[in-house]
Amino acid sequence: MEMKEDIFILGIESSCDETAAAVVKNGREVLSNVIYSQIGLHKLYGGVVPEIASRKHIEKINQVIEGALADAQMTLQDITAVGVTYGPGLVGALLVGVSSAKAISFATGLPLIGVHHIEGHISANYIENKELEPPFMCLVVSGGHTHLVVVRDYGQYEIIGQTRDDAAGEAFDKVARAIGLGYPGGPEIDRLSREGNCEAIHFPRAKVEESVYDFSFSGLKSSVLNYLNICEMKGEEINRADIAASFQKAVIDVLVGHALEAVEKYGFSKFAIAGGVASNSSLRSAFEKECRERDITFYHPSPALCTDNAAMIGTAAYYEYKKGIRSGLDLNAIPNLKLGERQ
Ligand code: KG4
Ligand code: ZN
Repeated sequence: MEMKEDIFILGIESSCDETAAAVVKNGREVLSNVIYSQIGLHKLYGGVVPEIASRKHIEKINQVIEGALADAQMTLQDITAVGVTYGPGLVGALLVGVSSAKAISFATGLPLIGVHHIEGHISANYIENKELEPPFMCLVVSGGHTHLVVVRDYGQYEIIGQTRDDAAGEAFDKVARAIGLGYPGGPEIDRLSREGNCEAIHFPRAKVEESVYDFSFSGLKSSVLNYLNICEMKGEEINRADIAASFQKAVIDVLVGHALEAVEKYGFSKFAIAGGVASNSSLRSAFEKECRERDITFYHPSPALCTDNAAMIGTAAYYEYKKGIRSGLDLNAIPNLKLGERQ
């Protein structure tokens, strides 16, 4: 009998404010997952400062990679290939991960695989749901992206809807800031919403006229800002928990509405969510309920695999590796890389 050789991918991620490395076995088994979060550093400024992010990545990347290998009880000699996020993201931040991966590949001769960050987020679903295989529909909601994606096959994506302005996570962060919560705003609003009434204030649920699956969140954000201004002018005290809960409900209603309409229209029986906002507790329970009622199987990564990490990059790289995809040492960071496009 032919022995199937195990494939070990070293995944590297540095597209925003997390320096991360992981070792993933055969695409679905995470042997190590090290994340150095810079959030504490950027909190002071109320958002990610690109220059500070790049510098911190440089400082931490080797330590994080060594940590991931050590936790997996491996050396580079045990690794099959190196996968790295090369876009989209902050160019200076991306370059740190890409340069490190290229250096490792050059020094060891290991194959190099450039990974799309969003493909990573989607692939996070494979880690804890061993039975999940394409095709399925996936809603990607992060700080920079709001995409409704048909996952036709591994590495084959069709974007059927996206945001026209702010990403869902961006809206969370901006509204949080406006009501005096810290960065990142998503988890803060998630927490505060539990103490508020989501029916207290009616905020708009925007529709994009000509394309039913597209999203728009800037109107909602403005509406919250207007509400705050009016309260201030009238000298009325605001209830932050009610605002957080009502805003969150408006975002969730739109995400759930659009996504499930698409799932039904396309006739999928499997639906997944991904990205930082996918760790939102109310969003998860709303999808759980709606999917159950429609007999749709609902998938989501656990919260630690929703936000940026390198295990998801290792998983995505595994499927690219299996298809024979390899990047050259001329791999570059591409800040606005499109999903499904390769350099
Ligand atoms: O995927 P991610 O870690 O980075 C990007 O690729 O953008 O997503 C970060 C975003 C931030 O906007 C953050 O506020 C949001 O995800 N987020 C949340 C929650 N946790 C993180 N939004 C809502 N509820 C949460 N629990
Ligand atoms: Zn991300």
